[in-house]
Formats: sequence, structure tokens, C-alpha cells
Amino acid sequence: MKPSAEKCRCRILRATRGGLASAALFLALAAAASPKTLAQHSQAFGGREHLLMDFNWRFAFGDPAKDFDPANNFFTYLAKAGYGAGAASADFDDRGWRTLNLPHDWAVEAPFSSRGSSSHGYKSIGKNFPETSVGWYRKRFFIPATDRGRHITIDFDGVYRDSQVWVNGFYLGRESSGYSPFEYNITDYLNYGGNNLIAVRVDATLEEGWFYEGAGIYRHVWLTKTAPLHVSKWGTFVTTEIRGNSADVTARVTVNNDAAKDASFAIEQSILNADGRSVASGSVTNLSLAPGATAEFSSVLNVSNPKLWSVETPYLHWLVTSIRQGDQVVDRYETPFGIRTIRWDANEGFFLNGKRVELKGTCCHQDHAGVGVAVPDELNAFRIEQLKKMGSNALRTSHNAPTPELLDACDQLGMLVMDENREYGINPQELGELERLIRRDRNHPCVVIWSLGNEEWAVEGNDKGRRMTRTMQTFARRLDPTRRFTVAISGGWGRGNSVSIDVMGFNYYSHGSMDDFHKQFPDKPSVGSEDASGFSTRGIYVEDRAHQHLTAYDVNKSDWGALAEKSWNYYAARPYVAGLFQWTGFDYRGEPTPFSWPAISSQFGILDTCGFSKDNFYYYQAWWSDPPVLHLLPHWNWPGREGQEIDVWAQSNCDEVELFLNGQSQGRKPMPKNSHLEWKVKYAPGTLLARGYTGGREILTTKVETTGEPAAIQLTPHRATMKADGEDVSVVTVQVNDAQGRMVPTADNLITFEIAGPGRIIGVGNGDPSSLEPDRYVESVRALPLTNWRKKAVDGATNLAEVALDFDDADWPTAFDERSGKRRGDTNEPAHTTVYRAEFQAPQETAGASFTLVLRSLGESQSVYLNGRPIAENVSRDSADLEIKLAADALRPGKNVVAIAAESLRENRGRQDGGHGSPGLVRVTIPSAPWKRSLFSGLAQVIVQSTGQPGEITLTAKSPGVADGVMKLPAQPAVARAALR
Ligand code: GAL
Repeated sequence: MKPSAEKCRCRILRATRGGLASAALFLALAAAASPKTLAQHSQAFGGREHLLMDFNWRFAFGDPAKDFDPANNFFTYLAKAGYGAGAASADFDDRGWRTLNLPHDWAVEAPFSSRGSSSHGYKSIGKNFPETSVGWYRKRFFIPATDRGRHITIDFDGVYRDSQVWVNGFYLGRESSGYSPFEYNITDYLNYGGNNLIAVRVDATLEEGWFYEGAGIYRHVWLTKTAPLHVSKWGTFVTTEIRGNSADVTARVTVNNDAAKDASFAIEQSILNADGRSVASGSVTNLSLAPGATAEFSSVLNVSNPKLWSVETPYLHWLVTSIRQGDQVVDRYETPFGIRTIRWDANEGFFLNGKRVELKGTCCHQDHAGVGVAVPDELNAFRIEQLKKMGSNALRTSHNAPTPELLDACDQLGMLVMDENREYGINPQELGELERLIRRDRNHPCVVIWSLGNEEWAVEGNDKGRRMTRTMQTFARRLDPTRRFTVAISGGWGRGNSVSIDVMGFNYYSHGSMDDFHKQFPDKPSVGSEDASGFSTRGIYVEDRAHQHLTAYDVNKSDWGALAEKSWNYYAARPYVAGLFQWTGFDYRGEPTPFSWPAISSQFGILDTCGFSKDNFYYYQAWWSDPPVLHLLPHWNWPGREGQEIDVWAQSNCDEVELFLNGQSQGRKPMPKNSHLEWKVKYAPGTLLARGYTGGREILTTKVETTGEPAAIQLTPHRATMKADGEDVSVVTVQVNDAQGRMVPTADNLITFEIAGPGRIIGVGNGDPSSLEPDRYVESVRALPLTNWRKKAVDGATNLAEVALDFDDADWPTAFDERSGKRRGDTNEPAHTTVYRAEFQAPQETAGASFTLVLRSLGESQSVYLNGRPIAENVSRDSADLEIKLAADALRPGKNVVAIAAESLRENRGRQDGGHGSPGLVRVTIPSAPWKRSLFSGLAQVIVQSTGQPGEITLTAKSPGVADGVMKLPAQPAVARAALR
């Protein structure tokens, strides 16, 4: 691609935090365009590292009584810097905790219970379940000595919720929001050239929303290392203005000088196109910042003949910002953005790049079958792809700040976004959440409007709402003057916040008169922020309330909602409204309206929780997209109903459709616009066939056949290969076919899964809104405490009577007494052997369990005995921490005795070796039960993730009486993201 002429105009915008900033106005012609790709550029320059911290965390539930003692004594918790105690301290022994990778949602792993909250899909977490509502995460990581002098932060994309974080026992802070990203500067707390420990306490007892929200560190965590002089977090803001054949790109950059001395520097910027070629560049020189200062700088770069970002061609550019000090590029920061224009018009709706675009949108919550809210990036992209296939061009992130990667997928796939804030209000926390949402997301071309909130019933029709909306909007407009704001309003239209809001958000046309509102506020643009709320169960055509199943015909809706067809027609007839967002794209856990327990998920979705299409999907596809569509419902397996009339519907955008049963015409009918066709057909097994005609010509046929019995399982991955990067996923459809290879739409076989090769199963689902089957099968890990520690100095180190099972140690002194506060290791012992004895109780149920004794070194060298028998001999102090597998037959029922003969420590090697209390425990691991799931209306889904190694993954599915399904999926070598493992 030919690089275009490159120009740059730069000016200082403003200096903040008392920063001293100076810049020369600078006009630069760019250096020759570089043919390098973006990835090559990334490796080439800059001192920034952005490391994924998702791997190898330890996790355990907080004990409701003691909660791992983060404040267990005087001078702990917040009393002194670095005195985090219990699980917050670096010394805590977490080897009895489960090991897992992020993103992690412990709610999705929890069983269902009628005592759970219906909002959270009856998972057994929340206020009725204190024992599973607080979770602790801990991770060790190494920081090289060469990082000394760098600025290091830990960044959380989202933790549900109310998290507290410590690094090396230093308290970093508390974040109540379950959706807002947050970061801590940990530069000063780190051990350089040593190990470090991060501890996170998460409290999911309370709810922020009225829908499934999950629990835990369910989004990515990052460690970011930069030079002290660096682009600040979300430190760029790129806006574009198109003038004729070129675009002015305004690139604002906020720079921090965290060094203790003045910094002189230059900012160099270039814009790369999607091929990685520079299409504009420039620089600002002679800049300086005082110690601790932050300042924003702005330049305008010109791109000629830019490729615009649109729904059809989502073309992205990258702004590459480099901070140069002398010869050295000390920071390099990449910002993807798109060149496009947006406009909201009170009479004509929404315009993208000067063209009216009707918003054909859906509202979506963030959970998916099997994984809850811990949605891998590829799964987020899969969900957006499903919506795009339906012809949808817009998504509302109801009702919270989304996962950043969802917006990346929308940028890349061309999906317009209404980006929604969670808490509506003007206190510092609430405005802070709004600020973080906007700063984080404002460079995404997909984001075309901000939503301040949803259905704020206490205020939406009154003066408080009017004032609050005005305050929030004024605050937010400073952060993004390029986009407009809406609130989703369910009542009081014409009053309250509907008066002060920029773009009116109508929630449900049944709630008032949109036409009257438009007359009253002729200059105010508007959008259907939410509508529909119809109910349908995938693949069900006869209502079965006993199983909380409704039908998939477009016939059921909430009192406030409208059927799919009705609502779309309503908006399609009102061009002054910019379009609508249907409730919802996907079913989600919680809100099982119109049912309650044992229904656990909503049925509002156009697709189910797995992303399988319900029949309404084809209604929208017919009228929201251009290609010809012809879909028939229901299935044609109705044994016992021979001769009875069955409603047959066609969803189609053909001009006419003719239906045949076993070759006999049931009538040819014209298709009304934005509608569907119906026939009453007397059931006979065989083939329903529809022929679609447009312009009098047959353009499409579709058929539905009566199938035979289930004969074989079929597994189909959503892509033919997978990246072997430890993160990528394959979304696998499971179905059973009859002997002729036709999917059996009523099959409900229970299928078990086995996986071999470099893949793991991370979730299963089937979209049944009342299935109480587990979403995940995970190993259980718990710690058995070693108690009653005693010690005695002995002569010699071998043939010790003191290690025998029944040795009488009643008169030995207590060792490792937690209350004494004495440091473990007892360094003041004279140099001789000490025998330590402790005991643990074997659990009654041990079937399938494995036991591991984990100890910390108690001497320069030590030998370990279980019930008098040696299990490890002469293990030196400097070997890795002791982990000894205990053979099941070496355990005794009830009390077991551990004895350790340790040669005393010769020196105190400092606090890292120290700590209070027991120096060990027994870890009990019970492997997960085999993965399994029933089919629902013929389908189930398995989500398979790469373990990081290349090779062939084999997924095998079995069910009695049918042939196995086997899927071979190549995991292809791929560059994994830079990560701290
Ligand atoms: C709306 C609300 C949504 C959801 C929906 C169910 O009023 O904004 O969050 O609860 O009702 O129909």
C-alpha cells in the first residue's frame, strides 16, 4: 500500500498536577514509510512490557470465621506498611489451595440451590452462603534485578467484586466495583531479583446488578513495566475529523514523569495502516516534565485517502506513540483506532460516515454457558460473530462496563456499541467508574454512544433524575466531547432525566408514546435502548411449564415487552428513532422470568446461553440482513400426533414461499415485509419442504425431515484449528444424528467427554434454561492442618526412636506456637538434630483422593517420617519446598503422625524463611468427575482450551447405545502473549 503524505501539527493542550510542560510547535514531514508489520515494530522499540498475569494462581474460599486472618494480631492489616497478615502476607503457606488460571468465575463452578439468588441464577453464592462467597487468590512472581528503576503497576480488568489487594504484605487498596478496571503502582513494594507475592481477597456476597454477575477475578490481570517517563494508563485519546479526501487525526497523549528528576524528551507519533505501513507521522521536541508531573500533549496528523472504519469494513489504524530521551526510545505505546464519523439526528436517526445506519441491536449480558463470566477472548469474538450472522450491527453492553476484549472484537468485526455504565450517581466512586469507562474505551471506533445508566426507577421521571443526568453528562463530556450520551429510560418520558439527556433512550415502547415525546422534543435524537423481552425456549414447540419450557414460536412475551416481530415493526416504522436494541442477544443466567426455581436462566435471548440460534434468530436474519433467508419451524418429529394440525412457520425475506408436505403443496403465500408466514399442517412423518421465490423465480429451498433414532454423536468445532497459545478456545457443537446423518432435534442423550492431547475442557452447556447439571467439573483441593507440633533435641540423626508412630512425646515442648509469635525455624537452637512431631486426621472418605505432605524446611537437612516409616530422607534446605506424595496405604484411619528429624539451621536467613504457625499441611486433591452433559433439543456445547503446546487434540464423546463422536483438532504453533507465568 502506498503511504500518503504525512503532516503533523502539535500543540500543548494542558498541563495537569502542577506539571511543567513545554513544547516547540513542530511541523514534520515523515520519514519514509516502514514496511514493518505491527508485531515487528513492537519488538523493535520501547521499554514497555505488558505481561499477562493469568497463569498459576492459588485459590481458596475464605473461612467465614477467620477468613485466613489478614488481621490476626497487633500490628497487622493496616497498622503498619507491609504488615498484611494471614493470607495477605508473603509467608502464608497456600500450597493447600487449588491451582488455576484466570479468567476464573467461582460462581459458575458452584452447585445450584433454591436458597440462591434468582438474579444470580440460583448459584450457591451470596448472602445465604458465607462459606462460598469470599475467595482468596494468591500468585508468586519473580521480578529480575534489572527491573530496578522501572515503573511497575498491576492492572486488573475486572474483579467481581469488592476486592482488596496486597503485594508482599503491603496493602494496595480496595475496589468495590465488579466491572471497573483498576491498577496499583507496586514499584516500591517489589523484591527486585527475588520472589514476590500478590494476594487478592474478593467478596461476592452482595450483588451489583439483577442478573448473573459471577464471582472472582473473571477478567485478565496484567503487570505493566515502563520507564519512569511513560505514557500514562489509557494515556492516549485519538479523535478523527474527515475533510474531503483526508482525515485530521488528533492524537492527545498524557505523559507521566515518575522519576525524581526533571525529564526532557520528545514525543514521536506515527499512524500505521492495517498492513503496518506508516501513513502519517510527526514529532514534538523540547518537552520537559518536572518530577512527579503529568501533562497532556496534542498533535494533529493528517492521513490522506483514509480507509474508513465501518460495520461492513471495520478497518483499523494504529497510533504508535514513542517517548524519546536522547537516542533512546523509553516508551512505546500502541493505540488501535478507526477513522469514521458519527452523527445523531433528531429526525433521521444515526449516521456513520455520513450514511444513515439503522441500529439493529441487541442488549447482552456477559456470561456464556460453561464458563459464566470468565469468558476467554475468542469466546467473546465467537459471540459477536453469531450476532453479526444474524444481521445485527449494534450491541448494548447492558448494564456495565464490558470486558475490554469484547470491544476489541467489536472493533475488528464491525459491531457498533452502546457502552454502558453500571452505577448511576454522582458520588466520587460513581463518577470514578464513569471516568474509567470513558478513558479506557474512548479510542474504540465501535463505541458510538455512552449510556449513563438503565431504568433508574427512583429518579428517572423526576427532578433529581434530571439533575443527576445533567451532572453526569457534564462531567463525562469533558472526557469525551466526540460522542453523545444516553440513559435507558423506562418511564416518565417528557420529565426527569429524559429532559436533560442528550439522546433519549426509550426502554420499551409500551412505556409511553415515543411519537408524543418526539413532538415535545423535536431536536432530541432518540434510540430504542431496550425492547422485546419475549420468551422462547430453543427447540421447544409445545409449552411444557412443568419443565419451565416455553415454545420457540414468537408468541410469548413479558407484560412490558413485545414480540420480536411487533417490536421490530414498531421501530422500523419510525425513522426518527435511530433503531433499537432487543432484549436480549443471548440468554443469560438469572432473571428466569416468567419462572423461578428450578428455572435458572432467562429465556429472553434470540440465541441461547451457548449461542445456539433459536427460531427468532432467522426472523431477524431475514429482515436485518440482505442475503436470502428461508427457515422453517418446528422440527418434524411428532410421533403420536399423526393427523393432528401443527403450526408451521416460515421465517424468510423471499417475496413468496410455498410449503409442501411429502410433495403435496400446502399453499403458496406472499411474504409481508418484516413478517413471517404460517400454515396449519396435518402431521404425517416425512419431509416438509419450502420453496422461496423472489421476483417470481425460485431462489431457495429448505427442508425439515422426520428423523430416525439417535445413532451416532457428531462433534463440530467452530474453527478447523486452534492456536496453541494456552488461551485460545474451540467452541464445539455436540449433536446426535440418526443413521442417515440427520441431527435428531429431540435428542436428550447424556454424553460424557474425554480429552487427550494439548487441550482441556473448560465448560459445558446445552442452553436448557432449567438444567441443573454442572457447568464445570473441577478438582477439589483442601488442606488438612498439621496440629499439635512438638519438638525435642536429640543425639544423632539416624535410627531415632523419636520418629516412631507411638513414641510418647507428651512431655515435649510445643513447637511453632502461633501465639508466641516466634519465628519458625527456631534459629536459636544449638547445632544438633531436632525431631519435630505433628499429627493430622485422615478424612473418612478417601476414595479417589490423593494426599501430599507439604512442608517448609526446618533444618539444613531433614528426613521425614509418616507413621514411623521414612518418606523422604536427607532433603537439603535449599531444595525446593518439600512436597511429598503420601501413598494411600501408608495412611491410617483417623490420627496420622508426621515426624521430621532436622539438622538445625546454622543461620537465620531472614524473614522470607520465617512466618508463624505450622510449617506444613497435608493437601488433599480429589480429581474432577468426568465431564458430561445432556443434549437439550438435540444440542450441547463443549468449550476446549489450548494448554499451550502444539499438537493434536482428540475430543471423544460417548453415550450408551450410540456410536462415539471423535473430533481431532490441530493446535497449531502460535506465539503466546507475553506473560508472567
Ligand atoms: C428491563 C431491564 C433489563 C431486564 C429486562 C427483562 O426492564 O432493563 O435489565 O431486567 O427488563 O425484561
